[in-house]
Amino acid sequence: MANLFIKKDVNRLIADAADGGESGHRLKRTLGPFNLIMLGVGAIIGAGIFSLTGTAAAYYAGPGIVYSFIIGGILCAFAGLCYAEMAAMVPVSGSAYAYSYATLGELIAWIIGWDLVLEYAFGSVTVATSWSGYFFSLMTKTLGVPISDDWIRLTKGPWELVTLTDGTQVFGWWNLPATLVALFLTGILYRGIQESAFINNLIVVVKLTIIFAFIALGWAVVDPLHWVGNSAATGLARLVPPATLAMRNGHEVMSFGWPGVLTGAGVVFFAYIGFDAVSTTAQECRNPSRDLPIGILVSLVTCTFLYILMALVLTGVVPYQELGVPDPIAVGVDRIVSLRGWSEGGQRMFTFAVKVGALAGLTSVILVLMLGQTRIFYSMAKDGLLPWFDHLSERYSTPDFATVTTGLIVALGAGFLPMSLVGELVSIGTLLAFVLVCVGIPILRIKNPDVPRPFKTPLYWLVAPLGALACFWVMTGLPRDTWVRLVVWLIIGFVIYFGYGSKHSKLRLESQNGKR
Ligand code: ALA
Repeated sequence: MANLFIKKDVNRLIADAADGGESGHRLKRTLGPFNLIMLGVGAIIGAGIFSLTGTAAAYYAGPGIVYSFIIGGILCAFAGLCYAEMAAMVPVSGSAYAYSYATLGELIAWIIGWDLVLEYAFGSVTVATSWSGYFFSLMTKTLGVPISDDWIRLTKGPWELVTLTDGTQVFGWWNLPATLVALFLTGILYRGIQESAFINNLIVVVKLTIIFAFIALGWAVVDPLHWVGNSAATGLARLVPPATLAMRNGHEVMSFGWPGVLTGAGVVFFAYIGFDAVSTTAQECRNPSRDLPIGILVSLVTCTFLYILMALVLTGVVPYQELGVPDPIAVGVDRIVSLRGWSEGGQRMFTFAVKVGALAGLTSVILVLMLGQTRIFYSMAKDGLLPWFDHLSERYSTPDFATVTTGLIVALGAGFLPMSLVGELVSIGTLLAFVLVCVGIPILRIKNPDVPRPFKTPLYWLVAPLGALACFWVMTGLPRDTWVRLVVWLIIGFVIYFGYGSKHSKLRLESQNGKR
């Protein structure tokens, strides 16, 4: 029983990461601070801002969505600081999984590793589906490409409804674009970390250009009256419409008012997911102890500012009641071009550019989340908790088996899984990982006070517990179904752990052989 909670020594974890393990064959160390910041921004800005902002503003927070983003940013800053300390101190590709192995023991580490599949693999599935939606809209609405009914049914999975050309609604067959984008990105990841980082940099430049254009062009035509959600209130509270109870998916939810702003923060939390993926590249950084905190924190702060500005522009140009659509930024763009009185050609160009920017944004999120997943599988297999995934390609020094498996899981999931099943699982899985990383900080400060910490969480005794509590609190706001799915997922994980991992764990085998 004690063996279930066997802990890896921090110094050993650091040494393993540095020497690449017994094979001597190791991941390539090529990434510097710029690439890491770009990977962070690549993973963060995506479906959250391009899709969820509208729903959160229309149904929960009104123009107060700006506060939801600020709250989400602060919460992630707590977790981000803790990640930065861990990543700098223990720069291993297993990220939260590896940190938990040192702080809370093997079983909890397994739970977190298994849980991170929800964040990284299921996150990629969710964003690939959103990618397919934007791609379809770009093809049909913006470019006017005619698509036959058979092809339309190949744009959504068998659980989602599609509208045929005569207006009838039927179930889709297979979300082919989502599958293809996942397979294409798998090819890039397989080819190498440097190539992946280079492609990510290009994509991030495209998406940031579009976002800056949206903010700059929109800011000039903002109508401050749209920001007033409650004219009876004063000061900053004017942004938040009065509280009301509303029915959503058969549940009563608090809409508007400060409770609505908090619910909105839970919804837009998805928009921040991804900064932690930076830490999974620890064994591919030239100077991880210095650069990982830079990558994590700079990308998080940059995206928080961009989100706040985007939310201000969006709710300043479109009344929040009209934002309950899957593509709110596209609605914002339409309003901006009409307010600026652009010609039809100019309007089409800008709409086209924004959709391309959104597609670019979503592409880099899938790329970096899949990258994170491969590195987590790799680390777990190195510890013996999973089979095969620690194999590295001789030619490209990438974890080939982990990459192909991740690619197939994401490609099949994106093609066939219902979105309603996976979407919120991503948030709950990520939050659970954040809670455990925050909990780990004080534990390691007490247990291993002397391990060098190139980056230290300021006021850790306050920041770490607040981060853990805040993340747990957001988890409690997620629907009961999501919790049930999380428990089912963890039970599947236990079956695998007790069937395989616990028997092959290198640490346990060494401890049984008295080598530890
Ligand atoms: N933060 C990422 C997104 O919004 C997961 O797509």
